[in-house]
Amino acid sequence: MTARTKLIVANWKMNGTQAAIAPFVATLQAQTLPDAANIVVCPPFTLLAAFAGSGLALGGQDCHASAKGAYTGCISADMLRDSGCNYVIIGHSERRRDFAESNELLAAKVQAALAAGMVPIFCIGEKAGEAAEAILSDQLQALKGLPLEQIVIAYEPVWAIGTGQVAAPADIIVRHAFIRGQVPQIGQILYGGSVTADNAGAILALDGVDGVLVGGASLDAASFAAIAQSVANPA
Ligand code: PGA
Repeated sequence: MTARTKLIVANWKMNGTQAAIAPFVATLQAQTLPDAANIVVCPPFTLLAAFAGSGLALGGQDCHASAKGAYTGCISADMLRDSGCNYVIIGHSERRRDFAESNELLAAKVQAALAAGMVPIFCIGEKAGEAAEAILSDQLQALKGLPLEQIVIAYEPVWAIGTGQVAAPADIIVRHAFIRGQVPQIGQILYGGSVTADNAGAILALDGVDGVLVGGASLDAASFAAIAQSVANPA
């Protein structure tokens, strides 16, 4: 399998304050982070500007499908790009759950992100008790006809998000191979769901895992830095 640069992505969700940024950045900058790891932080929109000059790559947590217009409360892909983002998370299970985001809408958001010159991080994953492969191939339909090599996938079993329950290593390998088989040209395939400094090394060393999408454990700079370090020191 081709060696891809590992992508280590922080998803802060609706957490963080202006005051938290300088210490977070200082802690990360004090570490020698591995060259083989690309670090991306996706804070709330209000905190993007506070990362200016940090040297960290930035991402949004969502974008609107339209470039601009009368959409109160929304942010466009162009606006994220204008705020220094190179990435945007699209279709996170919390957006699918709380905002009923459909495959059609998500396809339009991925296209908007690409048109703005950003890398979409497209999230897919089954809920507990669902037939994983059927769900994943259905969710992947949103990417049909799109330039797959410019898109990153995050495989996040919904039951593993924020629960402390990580998918079994053998299952992660099987699911990533399944996704790669469905969309062979895709960029990195990340794993997400209860990744911590303790388990990241083992997860990142699995076949077909090109990085991780980290929620809770990314809020603490030392633990997020340790996750990035585990690219160089697999468990
Ligand atoms: P978690 O969240 O690491 O807190 O489980 C991951 C995610 O939702 O992307």
